[in-house]
Amino acid sequence: MKKTILTGIRPTGNLHLGHYFGAGQNWVKLQDDYEFYLEIADVQGLTDNFNNPEKVRTNVYEIVKDLLAIGIDPKKVHVFIQSRIPEIAELTVFYSNLVTVARLQRNPTVKSEMLQKKELFGNEGESITYGFLGYPVSQAADITCFDGELVPVGEDQAPLIEQCREIVRKFNSIYGEVLKEPEGLYTETRRVKGLDGNEKMGKSLGNAVYLVDDPDTISKKIMGAVTDTKKIRKDDPADPEVCMVYYYHKLVNNEENNKTICSECKKGARGCVQCKKELIQAMNDFLKPIQDRRKHYEDNPDEVTAILEEGHIAAKEKAREVMKNVKKAMKIDY
Ligand code: TRP
Repeated sequence: MKKTILTGIRPTGNLHLGHYFGAGQNWVKLQDDYEFYLEIADVQGLTDNFNNPEKVRTNVYEIVKDLLAIGIDPKKVHVFIQSRIPEIAELTVFYSNLVTVARLQRNPTVKSEMLQKKELFGNEGESITYGFLGYPVSQAADITCFDGELVPVGEDQAPLIEQCREIVRKFNSIYGEVLKEPEGLYTETRRVKGLDGNEKMGKSLGNAVYLVDDPDTISKKIMGAVTDTKKIRKDDPADPEVCMVYYYHKLVNNEENNKTICSECKKGARGCVQCKKELIQAMNDFLKPIQDRRKHYEDNPDEVTAILEEGHIAAKEKAREVMKNVKKAMKIDY
């Protein structure tokens, strides 16, 4: 029997290269060999956007189209919307007794997100909701509600997987061996740097290249990318390893070209403008098939709805079965 994969994504914006190389590409590779549930985590998206429901609603469809565009095959993957499976919310309540507030506050992902909020809003305490603090519990429910055994995610999610494993062990030790303890599956290219050289590409950082970016946008973004700051003149030798343009060449261009680019750059035989132009071309070539596939779903929104309906039916069936066992173990199977 195939092992089960569960992963999720918050619908709060379109997919960018960080999502693609950090996780999406890996999901496409995995879809042949596993029973695959892919959750559009709209409830989790609302933890940070509860006052902007329209944004989450719109992005549910945007994200689904992006996922289909990168090659997620709806015949192989159950793509479903989190809020349509109330069992997840129910399970979250049951789990909330099995985790301490102190443990949640120590969760490194929660901790760093709290710091970000502090920077944004000044007062940490005022901006931290009960729902935000508890979202790792909800994510543990996302995974276990479908018997997820493997969870392919970026490495930033590792503390959430660890927290889930702890909850599972606690549950099983009290109520009996009912839940599967999941394992994280981390991608090779774990993190993609931003156009500005920041270690992380992110929407809030304003340094992302989106899969939906048109050639004009791509051109502007790449022209503004950070290169080796020590290179002043066109024929100065430079260090490609500190240049974001070379960094993206390595992601989207072929090996042969990249070898040439690297050696020319080191010798001072290549100007940055030329190099950026070549990257724009390579980036557009890379995005073209993705955007063509996306266009098909933009033109056929009924297909997207049907895909989500099929995914929902499969997810619902699984969640019902798991919930039955959970309630029985907890002696609340009235
Ligand atoms: N927290 C994940 C993110 O921000 C999204 C997510 C929600 C998820 N539920 C999940 C990931 C379950 C893996 C498993 O990207």
